[in-house]
Amino acid sequence: MTDITEQKQLLGEIADPCVMVIFGAAGDLTKRKLIPALYNLAKGNLLSREFAVIGVARDAFTTESWRAEISAHAKDYATDVLDPDLWDWFQHRLYYVQGEFGDAVTFQKLREQLEAANQSHNTHSNYLYYLATPPMFFSTIVKQLGDAGLVKEEEHHWRRVIIEKPFGRDLESAQALNADICTTLTEPQIYRIDHYLGKETVQNILAFRFSNGIFEPIWNRNYIDHVQITVAESLGVEQRGGYYETAGAMRDMIPNHTMQLIALTCMEPPISFDADDVRDEMAKVIHAINPFDPEEVLTHAVRGQYDAGQLGEQKAIAYRSEEKVSPNSATETFVALKLELDNWRWADVPIYVRTGKRLPRRLTEIAIQFKHAPYQLFRKTNVEKLRTNRLVIHIQPDEGISLRFGAKIPGPIVNLGAVKMSFNYKDYFGSTPSTGYERLIYDCMNGDQTLFQRADMVEAGWAVVDPILDVWQALPPRTFPNYASGTWGPKEAAELLARDGRQWREIHE
Ligand code: BG6
Repeated sequence: MTDITEQKQLLGEIADPCVMVIFGAAGDLTKRKLIPALYNLAKGNLLSREFAVIGVARDAFTTESWRAEISAHAKDYATDVLDPDLWDWFQHRLYYVQGEFGDAVTFQKLREQLEAANQSHNTHSNYLYYLATPPMFFSTIVKQLGDAGLVKEEEHHWRRVIIEKPFGRDLESAQALNADICTTLTEPQIYRIDHYLGKETVQNILAFRFSNGIFEPIWNRNYIDHVQITVAESLGVEQRGGYYETAGAMRDMIPNHTMQLIALTCMEPPISFDADDVRDEMAKVIHAINPFDPEEVLTHAVRGQYDAGQLGEQKAIAYRSEEKVSPNSATETFVALKLELDNWRWADVPIYVRTGKRLPRRLTEIAIQFKHAPYQLFRKTNVEKLRTNRLVIHIQPDEGISLRFGAKIPGPIVNLGAVKMSFNYKDYFGSTPSTGYERLIYDCMNGDQTLFQRADMVEAGWAVVDPILDVWQALPPRTFPNYASGTWGPKEAAELLARDGRQWREIHE
């Protein structure tokens, strides 16, 4: 983080004036997340009053009808009660350009609209382009922006591009996309977004690890037995069957969101909070993940696909019966991995990861499982099986941190039980309604890339999953569907840990 941005955040300072151009303006992300996030920034006095939004899409809207459409949904997607005056101010800054992303005419129209918005709202010629489109348009849009002269930075103004996920579908396509966009943009102009880094609790991992002296000395192989990361969803693929068939749980969740969690949990302390100092350390962790050889894929990686089942009161259909999904689909909706980091801090400390759809509940957490105490003083006493210390970072939906330790149960006989010390965000800070995109958009407006992925980080993530995807493609799954909706995945996921004498942390419904 640059000093200036750090100060701005501490002071709650207003971001740079700019026009934000949203490609894919008629899509879901725009209404559900981006517009509510911009409104929240305005409400928090962090958005410049010298600001405008230009939506670009092929859908037949005019500026008036797009404003009406966005306003009609504003209440549904707002994270808090809308202030009518503020909303009125905000919606009068929305403009629309209709056109195809591959057509130079669209970009001529955009240029005119940018110049007009810049004049009327005094946005200092700073332009932020947000690519909220399907990935097949990323290269095209960047090239068209370049050809139209819309990304050239001159003194006193900036041009930045936020690119949504998925960034590539394997290492080769990610490298090709990076090479492509780098012919038009410089790395400091590129903001590859991963919305997990917008989550408060994910950012808090850095604060927790590096602002407290007591945890760092034990944060290593001498004290930690293993780490478990769970990213569970109770929803199925909903209306996204078409996309999901081409992705699967591995591409959808592992090289991006899960890698961020691993990187923040396992990184070395950065030498400063400057963007590249933090990202250098995060990148080193991803590079240190030992890529599997084909035999290891069979023993260290588990895939699953949900069958019909029951989630609470609700019946759920099988993945293969979902809309736009093939009845013989071989796409995985669940992944579990045993990863190992080749470095001094983490050697021989497995990082177990699981993620999936239609699991019993929505929950993301990182559990740090500590080793047993070196000498069991209590072994001759009448105690229940002694439990080890465990620190859990609860990312969502309950945000907080808890530490399990042993305590004597009151009474004349020595009897030990496991108790928990818990910190809950809500209790201390109340809840701040947010979409998770506010911080990321604000940082981009201020030129802070700390929470965005660099090219090498994205490529390192793909380098880990590519060998697994290759083996999976060569050996189609024979047992799909292999877990019922509403359960914690296929039995092989439990076996992955059982082989090492461990088990997944039991998560109570
Ligand atoms: C997205 C995936 O990136 O992350 C979705 O494409 C997934 O499939 C979502 O549901 C999970 O995000 P969150 O913030 O709900 O945990």
